[in-house]
Amino acid sequence: MSTAHRIGIFFVAFSSASAWQPTANINGIVVDAKGPVAGARVGWQGQSERVVADEQGRFRLPPVASAPGSTAKRIVATKAGYRIASTQASDKPITLRLELLPKNDNADYEWIDPHTDPKKPNNCANCHAEIHREWQHSAHAKSATNPKFLSLFDGDNGKHRTWNAKAEHPDGSAVCATCHAPTMSSPKLDYDIRKAQGVAKSGVHCDYCHKVADVPTDKLGLRFGRDGMFLLRPAKGELLTFGPLDDAVRPGESFAHAPVYRESRYCASCHEGVVFGVHAYATYSEWLESPAKKAGKQCQDCHMTPTGKMTNIARGKGGIARDPRSLASHHTPGGDADMLKKSLKLKPSLTGRQVIVDVVADNVGHRVPTGFVDRHLILVVLAIDAKGAAIGLVEGPRLPASAGKWKGMPGVLYAKQLIGDKKRTPLAFWMPVFETVDTRLYPDRPDRQTLVFKNEPSHVTIQLWYRRFWQDVADARGWRDNDVLATESTIKKQ
Ligand code: HEC
Ligand code: HEC
Ligand code: HEC
Ligand code: HEC
Ligand code: HEC
Repeated sequence: MSTAHRIGIFFVAFSSASAWQPTANINGIVVDAKGPVAGARVGWQGQSERVVADEQGRFRLPPVASAPGSTAKRIVATKAGYRIASTQASDKPITLRLELLPKNDNADYEWIDPHTDPKKPNNCANCHAEIHREWQHSAHAKSATNPKFLSLFDGDNGKHRTWNAKAEHPDGSAVCATCHAPTMSSPKLDYDIRKAQGVAKSGVHCDYCHKVADVPTDKLGLRFGRDGMFLLRPAKGELLTFGPLDDAVRPGESFAHAPVYRESRYCASCHEGVVFGVHAYATYSEWLESPAKKAGKQCQDCHMTPTGKMTNIARGKGGIARDPRSLASHHTPGGDADMLKKSLKLKPSLTGRQVIVDVVADNVGHRVPTGFVDRHLILVVLAIDAKGAAIGLVEGPRLPASAGKWKGMPGVLYAKQLIGDKKRTPLAFWMPVFETVDTRLYPDRPDRQTLVFKNEPSHVTIQLWYRRFWQDVADARGWRDNDVLATESTIKKQ
């Protein structure tokens, strides 16, 4: 589904019956401080049709679509480099005044807290309750406080000597913060994320993400996190917010339409990173190579899919009714059971002593798994005889030691394995890595495995497990939720 697909035509219903109703074309002009502006896009707020202002800044807008009850009354205009302009429709010639965006980012800007607080009128959740609820359940909201992240950051306060970034790479903490706590400031420059305070504790939060003016990818992977996102924060006392809508209006605040919000590029700075020389995060570059990209699908299409339930982004706080199919969800699910099931399929067959299984990842925009480099999949093939006993493998793949409890069993590990000195693996990405062996699945490209067993099985059970962390790491920390059954299939002798 491309973004264009999501912007449906929707008729806006206003409660105020007294609104003036245009019936004929509306003529107007778009200007800035210097005079007429050519090329601005003009339309009715809440509707998707736009006209383009001519060389003299003039436009002619057809009356608002003639659906019963349709009384859209605001006209909006946008152009790159400007804030969104708006005005009430009237029967007089219309003038829309565009205001330039600030020239420079204000590095002294004070971040606004995302959470509800009636005493702080600018806090996002005061007006965007529904979006806040979605975001609060996302990994982004917990990126600075997630206990598993912190456990690998400091080895549970030094209890574990491995998978302990602070101990194993002592001057690397600032690097973790750039993506996990992008608004953290650290006067002592130690960037100990455990000490993040105030808004910075909210990790990847609303105000940070909505101050992004551009995300260039000319240094993809090398300049990442906050260093790769170009912000435009307003002067003290001013409110300025960037987003995907070209028609958002709120008195006292400026909005800027930034098309990058609906492009994968927006996510690239944090979801691509060559960290300490290791290509630890590669989701964006995997997407660049994917069939999904060819089909025009962006990260947002799969990870911010509209729920179809939200019809107003700021209900009761000045928001207007909008097409729910045009409003993204901020829950951004990733490697959870539902998402895995959407993508992973097993296609097995059994002939005599031979099992052939195709492992398929489709409806996905990158390798599987992707994201944090320790994520992996384990294919386990269990051949059972008529008495219920397991049958030995004579030909075909067996699982390596990093598969933990499944070591030596018939099956395959799909992982990006980092290998250190003395062939040591698995290895944390902040350790010296000598070699990388990548066996993960490619989107839309079935991986075929052939296994031959000692005797003819009466049935074969094939399981595909997903693990967020290596078993040794999870066991040492007592994490019991690390093994997730992504999909399973059983075939019987014909
Ligand atoms: C990881 C960065 C990120 C965070 C965090 C984030 N947003 Fe967004 N937001 C986006 C992107 C990207 C879009 C555009 C998605 C699309 O249209 O496909 C968006 C869209 C929106 C929109 C336009 C309407 C819609 O839903 O499409 C609003 C309003 C909004 N965000 C408010 C918020 C608020 C409030 C929060 C915090 C509770 C928040 N955002 C947190 C990136 C973010
Ligand atoms: C006092 C209420 C209020 C508060 C507080 C508030 N907003 Fe909004 N916001 C609105 C209204 C009203 C709109 C426009 C709604 C419409 O046009 O339907 C809006 C629109 C937006 C948009 C859409 C802009 C676009 O062009 O895509 C974004 C993004 C957004 N807000 C983010 C935030 C963030 C982030 C915060 C906290 C830092 C925040 N808002 C705080 C009321 C508020
Ligand atoms: C400022 C950095 C930043 C930006 C921008 C960003 N992300 Fe993230 N994202 C993170 C971090 C950090 C995490 C991991 C948090 C954790 O698990 O502790 C994460 C986690 C995720 C996950 C969850 C994975 C899981 O298994 O739970 C998904 C999905 C995701 N991001 C998608 C996106 C998409 C789509 C975009 C663009 C619209 C985006 N992100 C933009 C930093 C970012
Ligand atoms: C066609 C749909 C689709 C597109 C496009 C897509 N993804 Fe995904 N993504 C999925 C599915 C399905 C999963 C679950 C399977 C998996 O973990 O790979 C997933 C998983 C993830 C995860 C979690 C990985 C883990 O196991 O922790 C992250 C992070 C992520 N995607 C980020 C992105 C980013 C960033 C982009 C854009 C560069 C993107 N995705 C594009 C469908 C998509
Ligand atoms: C380029 C940005 C970036 C940098 C730098 C970065 N991370 Fe991440 N990290 C992410 C993203 C994005 C995810 C989410 C991917 C996913 O869920 O698969 C993530 C996920 C994780 C997770 C998994 C959390 C969980 O609960 O599943 C851990 C642990 C982690 N990072 C540790 C670190 C440490 C420690 C550092 C510093 C040495 C670091 N990261 C540096 C972007 C980054």
